[in-house]
Amino acid sequence: MNAAPDTLTLALSKGRILDDTLPVLAAAGIEPEEDPDTSRKLVFATNKPGLRLLVIRASDVPTFVTHGAADVGVAGKDVLIEHGGADLYEPVDLGIARCRLMTAGLPGAIEAAAHRPLRVATKYVETTRAHFARLGRQVEIIKLYGSMELAPIVGLADVIVDLVDTGNTLYANGLEPFDLIEDISARLVVNKAAQKMKHAQIEELVTLFANGSGRTA
Ligand code: ATP
Ligand code: PRP
Repeated sequence: MNAAPDTLTLALSKGRILDDTLPVLAAAGIEPEEDPDTSRKLVFATNKPGLRLLVIRASDVPTFVTHGAADVGVAGKDVLIEHGGADLYEPVDLGIARCRLMTAGLPGAIEAAAHRPLRVATKYVETTRAHFARLGRQVEIIKLYGSMELAPIVGLADVIVDLVDTGNTLYANGLEPFDLIEDISARLVVNKAAQKMKHAQIEELVTLFANGSGRTA
């Protein structure tokens, strides 16, 4: 469904970022035509003429924005780091969906693997590779798509790289946090060509988000 040339397309991550982003839009008087939490639609017109929303998987937001299928997006810093992100502008830290990207495992797990490559389970493969390369530590990375906390418990990996907020998921599974890799929050990202072609509309949206919840970077 191609949009009219003057339509601005905003890609939102479904899940917890959507839950935090819709109130920011609502505070600015912007409402989707239907409730994205209950609708099966993927594209939503809004009451703001010329603005439509895409509601997609969190990890797909940078791809849609990089390729210009969306002009603007809201994505977690974790997803942006993993994606690479050099081809996107990142003008606003929204300060929502805050958490930390960390290594974690059973107590003593790193010491126990001191004389062999560390087995690390994660969905953040590139970020993990870069982190351990900086430390000069040899790793074997095991790609998972969720429930990373299970991996050390069943002997699939020595440690995990995953998001930690309250720490409840770690503690409930007998794991402990080790090292901080990055503080995470949701960011507004902008396609570079759209920033030029749709400058006024994008600036309006950036201002709205910066006033609504975040701060410009
Ligand atoms: P996908 O469907 O693409 O695999 P997901 O299941 O990780 O995504 P969510 O759990 O909704 O989707 O997470 C979306 C984003 O919210 C993450 O990329 C991260 O930036 C942030 N996030 C994830 N877990 C937490 C948490 N426990 N506390 C705060 N923010 C979080
Ligand atoms: C995220 C993350 C951790 C958990 C951390 O998972 O992957 O498992 O939150 O939060 P906590 O420190 O407050 O326990 P999420 O709840 O999004 O489930 P998912 O892994 O199925 O996406």
